[in-house]
Amino acid sequence: MLEVDINDLHFRNPLLLASGILDESGDTMLRVARSGAGGIVTKSIGMVPREGYENPVIYELPYGLLNAIGLANPGIENFGEEIKKAKEGGVPIIGSIFGGNVDEFVYLAKKMESYGVDAVELNLSCPHARGYGMEIGVDMELVEEIVGEVKKSVGIPVWAKITPNTDSVVRIAKAAEKADALVLINTIRAMAIDIDARRPVLSNKIGGLSGPCLKPVGVRAVYEVYSEVNKPIIGVGGIQNGRDALEYMMAGASAVQIGTAVYTHGLEVFTSIAREMKEWLHRNDYENVKDIIGAAQVK
Ligand SMILES: Cc1cc2nc3c(=O)[nH]c(=O)nc-3n(C[C@H](O)[C@H](O)[C@H](O)COP(=O)(O)O)c2cc1C
Repeated sequence: MLEVDINDLHFRNPLLLASGILDESGDTMLRVARSGAGGIVTKSIGMVPREGYENPVIYELPYGLLNAIGLANPGIENFGEEIKKAKEGGVPIIGSIFGGNVDEFVYLAKKMESYGVDAVELNLSCPHARGYGMEIGVDMELVEEIVGEVKKSVGIPVWAKITPNTDSVVRIAKAAEKADALVLINTIRAMAIDIDARRPVLSNKIGGLSGPCLKPVGVRAVYEVYSEVNKPIIGVGGIQNGRDALEYMMAGASAVQIGTAVYTHGLEVFTSIAREMKEWLHRNDYENVKDIIGAAQVK
């Protein structure tokens, strides 16, 4: 009932682990696979190991999470063993990568492919080397070039993860059109201030906002892109229950990713969301979740 296919990859359910939560080691990814996830996206991996920013890097809000981890990761050369372990879980593994330029993205994608991942996800939300304070993902020419060059270099599907920190996700999605699927969305730039200390809470001052408050932005992005770009979409942002996942799929997503809810609710979210989706589909006489993809698109 919940099975979906994206780019010839088969998923037992459309609930994938989003990049950044419990996915830096093979052991934790295996736990996530065994807890019922339909697929796993790894932590974004770069050219060299990075410690990330100093604490505090995560701040819990009543309606979401604010994080500025600083792309902490073990580096690509050390990641092959983790992928090997994660693959024991028997679900597709999507290797997320971030680079500072086209060559780095190409190198990282090839390495991920050599480790046996089923697809590669390009995290285009990293800092832009040329444009100060800007993300690579808002430079449309660069997005097009990165996606195009990675596509030419690997034989596995290439997913492009789009930033919402732009005035037009549709334009960015079109620039990434050569990708095999689009992942919408990453976190929104945000800040919290500790008024007693009279300073920003996060060491990096600005972080990314995720969780329930992000859902309407993500749903809007998926809805807008669905009618403009003819590629499968994976929706992400604020999904906590079955209704949230169905909402994204009705907006046009073929599958979804879950991040913050795994942090706040634990690994049971995958089974509880799957159960709630099945119950809703059953009550509403759907045999297959694929039949609701884009169902809320109105002319
Ligand atoms: C602690 C944390 C770390 C994250 N790290 C990454 C990352 O390495 N790469 C990436 O593409 N997205 C990263 N994200 C963004 C998530 O993958 C996701 O796009 C976003 O959090 C919205 O989904 P959610 O509300 O389900 O968490 C991170 C999010 C959080 C909360």
